[in-house]
Amino acid sequence: MTNKLIIFDTTLRDGEQSPGASMTKDEKIRIARVLEKMKVDVIEAGFAIASEGDFEAVQAVANIVQNSVICSLARALDKDIDRAGEALKGANASRIHTFIATSNIHMKMKLQMTPDQVVGQAVRAVKRANRYTDNIEFSPEDAGRSDEDFLCYIIEAVIKAGATTINIPDTVGYNIPHQFGATIKSLIERIPNSDKAIFSAHCHNDLGLAVANSLSAVLNGARQVECTINGLGERAGNTSLEELVMAVRTRQDIFDCDTNIDTMHILSASRLASSVTGFIIQPNKAIVGANAFAHEAGIHQDGVLKHRETYEIMRAEDVGWNANKLVLGKHSGRNAFKVRLAKLGVEFNDNASLNDAFRRFKELADKKHEIFDEDLQALVSETQTESYDEAIKLVSLKVCTETNEKNTATVVLFINDKKKTATANTSGAVDATFSAINSLASIKINLQLYSVSNVTQGTDALGEVNVRLEYNGRIVNGQGVDTDIITASAKAYVHGLNKVLTVTNKAHPQI
Ligand code: KIV
Ligand code: ZN
Repeated sequence: MTNKLIIFDTTLRDGEQSPGASMTKDEKIRIARVLEKMKVDVIEAGFAIASEGDFEAVQAVANIVQNSVICSLARALDKDIDRAGEALKGANASRIHTFIATSNIHMKMKLQMTPDQVVGQAVRAVKRANRYTDNIEFSPEDAGRSDEDFLCYIIEAVIKAGATTINIPDTVGYNIPHQFGATIKSLIERIPNSDKAIFSAHCHNDLGLAVANSLSAVLNGARQVECTINGLGERAGNTSLEELVMAVRTRQDIFDCDTNIDTMHILSASRLASSVTGFIIQPNKAIVGANAFAHEAGIHQDGVLKHRETYEIMRAEDVGWNANKLVLGKHSGRNAFKVRLAKLGVEFNDNASLNDAFRRFKELADKKHEIFDEDLQALVSETQTESYDEAIKLVSLKVCTETNEKNTATVVLFINDKKKTATANTSGAVDATFSAINSLASIKINLQLYSVSNVTQGTDALGEVNVRLEYNGRIVNGQGVDTDIITASAKAYVHGLNKVLTVTNKAHPQI
């Protein structure tokens, strides 16, 4: 058995299935670049047939990423497999991940197919995928509630047809660690050709057990785990990459395998995924939460100062904490700026976007003396412009607030290159700003979430605002950063509106 544990990241596919976490192509590219830097083995870039946007995102990631295998999801249908194969054409190394449900309840109620029909369709899909790549993954959806004899039968057949990875999904997060591990072990032992494939775990977190179930699978022979940054994913989410990777790395006394992940990039990947999706990281979240390495009790602090390992089982620096050194200042040049960003995994598509980011950096340096890595990341997040033309641009904002008085916001926007101005007068500065923007944009938006967080410490820190907007049943996220939080709010709102105007509907893979 190999001692390499393959990390298959599905932030861009299953992660994106979290309600409200839809991402644009450019956002997916940014996340994919960080995943590549982190040395993720396989990146599931999307579900190519879901929409034109999904197809383009898989294609773009496949063309850009060089060092990870790029994968697209496909139902066990010819048209899905062909679309995935087409999207992956430009990849250095590609994989097609095809799936069909195998639990009695799914076969009967959802697919309305007999078990034999399901096996036939699965085998056909794997053979078709073979036209495009020899790296084929098969998932029996809802395996966690499927009959084990049937799983053995279908898995043997798909391996024979050419599947090289067998992924066992606990689609509804129903399994318990010892039981899920036993299933993996039993499948590997019982299926005669199991040695021809790598077994993988794909766990959902409905009972809070996704990481535990995945670890149990690894202890029982799985050599791939499917996970997402910050545990994003359908409903309660998927196995969290950072927790899984650090558990295996920290407990090498227990696991006889390890991943290739460069853990130094974990924190920046987590922050990027959080900022793109608007899913805030809870402070007590393991590994990446603000309190994950903070010791409050005096006795703990004393212990850590005397000998770190009294209360710490991992080094915060190893996952990217404490990297927020003062890096650049007012007098730093364009080259130093570019080199520092390259170290953070940020590259620019062209000189114009580098120049734009550098101009904003200089503006920020005028307002804020100390500029940290986090500031740079937030700044470029905003300046890495979307490849679509933004219909709405914020030109200026003037806000007047006074205790016990209504607040007035005057907003100037470019809408389709026409300059327009509106003023609103309401009880709050943010509310007045959004009302003024709404009156100019003339679309009825439902604001589902508004949150503000500080990028670094201090009252001169950059404020990052996330908004979640709903329009005609479609949900998008918008982000904005600025040292002024009302301006950051306006930027976030305009960002979200532009997405509403461009993002197209997409199909859900599991419906
Ligand atoms: O949860 C699930 O079953 C999935 C499959 C498509 C692998 O996401
Ligand atoms: Zn899933």
